[in-house]
Amino acid sequence: MDLNNKLVLLTGASGGIGACLAQSLAKRGAHLLLVGRNAAKLEKLQQQLQNSEQHALLSADLTCDAGREALNHWLESYRQQGQRISVLINNAGTNQFQFLSQRGKESLQNELNLNLTTPILLSQAALHWLERPGIILNVGSAFGSIGYPGYASYCAAKAGLHRFSEALDRELDGSGIRVLYLAPRATKTELNSPAVNELNQKLGNRSDEPQVVANHVIEMLEEEITARWIGWPEKLFAKINQWFPSLVSQSIRKQQIAIHHSLGKNLSHRRTNDHDVEVPTSSKPL
Ligand SMILES: NC(=O)c1ccc[n+]([C@@H]2O[C@H](COP(=O)([O-])OP(=O)(O)OC[C@H]3O[C@@H](n4cnc5c(N)ncnc54)[C@H](OP(=O)(O)O)[C@@H]3O)[C@@H](O)[C@H]2O)c1
Repeated sequence: MDLNNKLVLLTGASGGIGACLAQSLAKRGAHLLLVGRNAAKLEKLQQQLQNSEQHALLSADLTCDAGREALNHWLESYRQQGQRISVLINNAGTNQFQFLSQRGKESLQNELNLNLTTPILLSQAALHWLERPGIILNVGSAFGSIGYPGYASYCAAKAGLHRFSEALDRELDGSGIRVLYLAPRATKTELNSPAVNELNQKLGNRSDEPQVVANHVIEMLEEEITARWIGWPEKLFAKINQWFPSLVSQSIRKQQIAIHHSLGKNLSHRRTNDHDVEVPTSSKPL
């Protein structure tokens, strides 16, 4: 798809990957509808974008009905003006590196909601307002293909998102809507706590700049690439885990001491986006 002059809805726009992606999309001439909870961050981002007046923002919590209704209401106003959205990027996500036994019920529900239920519901709504040809791109994770200690519910949500993307793409075959799935590996954003960054360093796991992920998203949209995993050896591990999961279990077993050490450190690190945050909904038109 040629992104020039296309209307693109981007969730998680205020985050590390989202902000980079917004910059790249704006440079391609796309008109952006930016969504996140933090209005101040979204406004700052909008001001920094090329042709800032061509973009609009909505601050809404997408994990609750009120936030999703505000989004649908906002999009309806575009539809009534004859503007159609060509791309939905489900990028908003969250996680918490912690043993399942130590997680609170609300934190688990929030993680499953934002990473899995929300993109499913937004994709369903998009079937009504997305232009044909149109694209839904879901941002998953390498952890959607490899179960990893400390991330059990996040792995479950991203694995679900992968299967959802695959099924919906097949369901919509011939309809003019494509559903794509991208699995980044560790990326340098605020999503990862200092303890997680330290663990990645200790284990020699590579961490990408958010621009790397943004470049992959652009390429996938432009060339309509169905699914992609970023980085070696993560791409290879995803395949090995599918065919020989015990080999990956053996490899992770060797990391257990480092993982437990980091999880202990991480207990004191409470992530703000894992709290229940009351977000007033507000929008700025194009
Ligand atoms: N960073 C990594 O290592 C990594 C690796 C693989 C995959 N990913 C995936 O990449 C995507 C982007 O992650 P990131 O690293 O850019 O994370 P990030 O910097 O923490 O950004 C997360 C984004 O999601 C938004 N968000 C959080 N809760 C929300 C809610 N309830 N309603 C609406 N928006 C909400 C945040 O905005 P507000 O806080 O303003 O709401 C922010 O814009 C996620 O799906 C993540 O799972 C990341």
